Amino acid sequence: AFNLRNRHFLKLEDLTPREIKFLLRLADDLKIAKYTGHEQPRLQGKNIALIFEKSSTRTRCAFEVAAYDQGANVTYIGPSGSQIGAKESMKDTARVLGRMYDGIEYRGFGQEIVEELAASAGVPVWNGLTDEFHPTQILADFLTMLEHSGKPLNEIAYCYLGDGGNNMGHSLMIGAAKMGMDFRMAAPEGCRPDEKLVNVAQEIAKTTGAKIMITDDVEAAVKNADFLYTDVWVSMGEADSVWEERIKLLKPYQVNRELIEKTGNPNVKFMHCLPAFHNRETKVGEEIYQKYGLDGMEVTEEVFESKHSIVFDQAENRLHTIKAVMVATLGS
Ligand code: CP
Ligand code: NVA
Repeated sequence: AFNLRNRHFLKLEDLTPREIKFLLRLADDLKIAKYTGHEQPRLQGKNIALIFEKSSTRTRCAFEVAAYDQGANVTYIGPSGSQIGAKESMKDTARVLGRMYDGIEYRGFGQEIVEELAASAGVPVWNGLTDEFHPTQILADFLTMLEHSGKPLNEIAYCYLGDGGNNMGHSLMIGAAKMGMDFRMAAPEGCRPDEKLVNVAQEIAKTTGAKIMITDDVEAAVKNADFLYTDVWVSMGEADSVWEERIKLLKPYQVNRELIEKTGNPNVKFMHCLPAFHNRETKVGEEIYQKYGLDGMEVTEEVFESKHSIVFDQAENRLHTIKAVMVATLGS
């Protein structure tokens, strides 16, 4: 037997496959409990700090609603207004917040910052996205895959296309390795995951039976996939000046109707952690589409709005999976 009480949740590499499976099961139980009106509040009286040094819709709202559903209170600490970063180090911040709060969520830049917070807080710390990893997102994605495929994870094949060097590329690869999945990444040279991390994934794969393919051969990568997954071509915290190069490199990796057809699977599902640039209806979307004369970016509007798309199921599952992480590490 094992439990996750008082543990941090910083990156998937730190968890065993059984622990990940346990969190997915707990999330499913919590989802059913909420739907049927049987949710038991297991975080009553807990106080939770939510630090966001970058913007967020899903992650912040999932943490807040999950905490409220479970009887906890939250404090949102945004990119400005606190002493973090400017006048106070993360180590001191950790020791202050650890005296007041029972758990701390952190979204920010370097992974080493959330690791430093965890080392000094004395209470569970949860990674709500760093430049390198986005582990809570992967739990939501895997729950969504289980729901839509009806197959166990180790029988699922999926392909991530685009920026393989970002937090999503890294976390999807490690998650797939842990769960013994058939994982393909279609990404060009220059948008590949950190080589050390590829080695880590390959080592894990030896023990779980996972398959890890990293290639610029898009057709081979998507063949017979159950799921296609993509993410923005430029992530939060990156300079606007990288757009031009990324568009050039990543255009052939766009998820569009032809690519869906190339899977040979008429039931293939499309996934995206969101937010997505599928059309011009955002400030950044409008600017970039105009400037580079694009017809869709990482995904076309047609695929995003098609029957293949399950992106809002993913978004909802952020709530149930984040709740599972908090209940497992902090719940009574
Ligand atoms: N997917 C995700 O993390 O979304 P937010 O940036 O809105 O939290
Ligand atoms: N790679 C994206 C993910 C957003 C949820 C980013 O970091 O901006």
